[in-house]
Amino acid sequence: MDKLKIEGGYPLNGEIVIGGAKNAALPLMCAALLTEESLVLDNVPHLQDISSLIALLEDMGVTTQREETRLTLTAKSVPRTLASYDLVRKMRASVLVLGPLLARFGTAEVSLPGGCAIGTRPVDLHISALEQMGAEIEIRDGYIHARTAPEGRLRGAEIVFAKKSVGATENLLMAATLAEGKTVLHNAALEPEITDLAACLTKMGAKISGAGGETIEIEGVETLSGAAHTVIPDRIETGTYAIAAAMAGGTVVLKNARLDLLAALVPVLQEAGVSIEENENGDITVSRRGNRLNAVDITTEPYPGFPTDLQAQLMAMLTVADGAGTVRETIFENRFMHVPELMRMGADITVHGSSALVRGVTRLKGAEVMATDLRASVSLVLAALTANGTTTVNRIYHLDRGYEALEAKLGACGAKLERIAA
Ligand code: EPZ
Repeated sequence: MDKLKIEGGYPLNGEIVIGGAKNAALPLMCAALLTEESLVLDNVPHLQDISSLIALLEDMGVTTQREETRLTLTAKSVPRTLASYDLVRKMRASVLVLGPLLARFGTAEVSLPGGCAIGTRPVDLHISALEQMGAEIEIRDGYIHARTAPEGRLRGAEIVFAKKSVGATENLLMAATLAEGKTVLHNAALEPEITDLAACLTKMGAKISGAGGETIEIEGVETLSGAAHTVIPDRIETGTYAIAAAMAGGTVVLKNARLDLLAALVPVLQEAGVSIEENENGDITVSRRGNRLNAVDITTEPYPGFPTDLQAQLMAMLTVADGAGTVRETIFENRFMHVPELMRMGADITVHGSSALVRGVTRLKGAEVMATDLRASVSLVLAALTANGTTTVNRIYHLDRGYEALEAKLGACGAKLERIAA
């Protein structure tokens, strides 16, 4: 497995172009299953998770064409409405094919995604909501076997999610577009990726109102058509590089990004002593104001709260801040795997259940580290950029799942990092 060798201590100066959002592109790709016409997506990042979903959709019979950041998907016929364990285990978002398959073909078999490094991550909310729309669902041999009544379509329903879930909201939003009658989703998740999905579905002919709010209404239609849509910028990639600039020092300009999608991070960075501003042309300039950052406290929450997908990176920042800060994780039960690895680099962190107390040290030390999920891995890269000496981050295939051209982007700003092929 490839490793990343990073020599710490160099400030970052330059421009970084932000790619399309992985977590917006994945559901949009699944939406292609809702129509026999072509869906053309622009600003699709080159990431392992995108390739894994392309492989899954192609396995079902979808044709795909990729030209730079444009991805065209055509689900003219879908002879195989099956998402096998082998393909789903590589990427949990594969479960997002369930709603579209059921809505258009009345049948789907999707492997249960199982647990993953950051927690158990069940799909009960997806399943019970689809059942409320008339789907008959059985869990057998590790698979979700789902079908609609023999006479046809899913039925519109009034669904109250017991908990906010990004994936369940997306799955149900897609399912409801082709259902018979009206569906109302209560306690829907508010993430911008959901609003982006709704915008694309609307271009395809879906009748949706209220996306981006807690109550979404969908009036089912008989068929959807093709459309062209540009994926929103990746707010987590943007936040990650903003934190990198804050930690390493220097001035970084983030291009093709949207600051309005990072409303929870901006005040936290400002409180920590970071200047983060949108220029007239929409670029975002980030630089640390003093020599050292101040400690801050954060709690992860569903959007518009502080994103769990930036928690590890923010914790890396706190390890070198002046003073002590707390990090409380409320979304996933096991998302502190970066803690022991950061401690190998000299970080001072105490974990109590879902909270971590981070006491800043003046300088981390390079070490051999390894992480078991995407955001934890990148937090180690950020720590390594400021550490004294060389850090080797093992198992970087996690990074390739979610960060496009990470070495090139950071390298162009003056970071010293090198990929070592296994
Ligand atoms: C999405 O995952 C993202 N993935 C995750 O990004 C992100 O961390 C997460 O939302 C939270 O923001 C994609 O968009 C592809 P959830 P998702 O359903 O949809 C519980 C990254 O690093 N839950 O909103 O799977 C669940 O266990 C990743 O890019 C149920 O209990 O997250 C969690 O505690 C990782 N039952 C909470 O809800 C269910 O049926 C929120 O999960 C579904 C979820």
